[in-house]
Amino acid sequence: MTQTFGQRRILLGVTGGIAAFKAAELCRLLVKAEIAVDVVMTEAATRFIGSVTMQALSGRPVHTNLWDSAVGNGMGHIDLSRSADLVVVAPASADFLAKLALGAADDLLSTLCLARDCPLMVAPAMNRQMWEHPATQRNIARLREDGAVVLGPDSGSQACGETGMGRMTEPEALCEQILGWFEPRILDGVRVVLTAGPTFERIDAVRGITNLSSGRMGHALARSLRDAGAKVTMVSGPTALTPPPGIDTIDVVSAADMLAAVEARLTECDIFIGVAAVADYTPLHPQEQKLKKDARILAIELAPTVDILANVASRANPPFCVGFAAESERLDEFAEAKRRRKNVPLLAANLAQQSMGTEDSEIVLFDDSGRQVLPRAPKSEQARRLVTHIARLYSAAR
Ligand code: CTP
Repeated sequence: MTQTFGQRRILLGVTGGIAAFKAAELCRLLVKAEIAVDVVMTEAATRFIGSVTMQALSGRPVHTNLWDSAVGNGMGHIDLSRSADLVVVAPASADFLAKLALGAADDLLSTLCLARDCPLMVAPAMNRQMWEHPATQRNIARLREDGAVVLGPDSGSQACGETGMGRMTEPEALCEQILGWFEPRILDGVRVVLTAGPTFERIDAVRGITNLSSGRMGHALARSLRDAGAKVTMVSGPTALTPPPGIDTIDVVSAADMLAAVEARLTECDIFIGVAAVADYTPLHPQEQKLKKDARILAIELAPTVDILANVASRANPPFCVGFAAESERLDEFAEAKRRRKNVPLLAANLAQQSMGTEDSEIVLFDDSGRQVLPRAPKSEQARRLVTHIARLYSAAR
């Protein structure tokens, strides 16, 4: 993160549940990102994790009691939430969500949640049946109506031994979404579909044609778009990366799968971004079984794939289209020609040998007003710069 969160203050509410131990890691990550964290624990939370742990990690006093006169001027419930930029309740138990939905204020944390004028995020954590219960679903719907942001929950194995929905989202993913919330919402509500990663074109049962794309740029861009307030769908070829939280990720394998997945989502798309390194050719006759070797020269016939970006850009009423170009030489000449040929308003180009599979890259942007260099930086930073540029062109084009 290059942005400084030094001035930001979060009130982290911890309620009673096994996942309370994960609140310690969340607190540590937020503090590491230079956020001031004030921890407020319910009485039940203190049965699961010690307040001393939270105090040591936050470096600030931990509050547990509504009647604690040590809090500010005695009006603790007002002071603690008034100076916060955000209240995050993680984990939020079923009971606490019910309280919030009702507007109850019978302990310090629920009182602070009611006496606040900053936004509220909750990260539910509970047993699968408790999560699925109509009462909990009603409470969640009510909280969303009231403007709360609900993070998760995730699905997986639970402390009770069952498997299902209700696990608290992991601290890294929570932290990422909380930090993202502080970014300016320059694409609020805008629907973006982007492609990412390589594609894999099958030769036979165990072999295929692919390329060096790691998917990092596409993932970084998807995160920045999400943080800018966009509703993001990422159609991704095979990568070793974990799908970013808060993004609708669709896994595909081949160029044909990628095209089909993109086409199915175009009716709800304001901006289309082709980040994927899509294979230009695919084996004409992929074999069901593993090919056996013999002494002869083997020729594999390849057929061209459909150009997804050009296909989307050539439609009637296309979304605002952004392309990428990976060139190995004559960057400016080839990239600008590619932009014109594919008829896209913006193209981000880089030298493939300096960017594919790497952590950082230099990008050159080409649009109607000319050429602009984004000097070498980590892909997360390049993504942020690119989103700013896209948002500017997109709003001018509307
Ligand atoms: N692209 C696409 N579908 C394809 C090939 C490319 O959508 N079948 C998109 C990429 O996602 C990227 C842009 O087109 O946004 C340019 O990709 P690139 O591989 O640089 O160029 P190509 O069009 O494949 O041309 P060449 O390989 O000749 O450089």
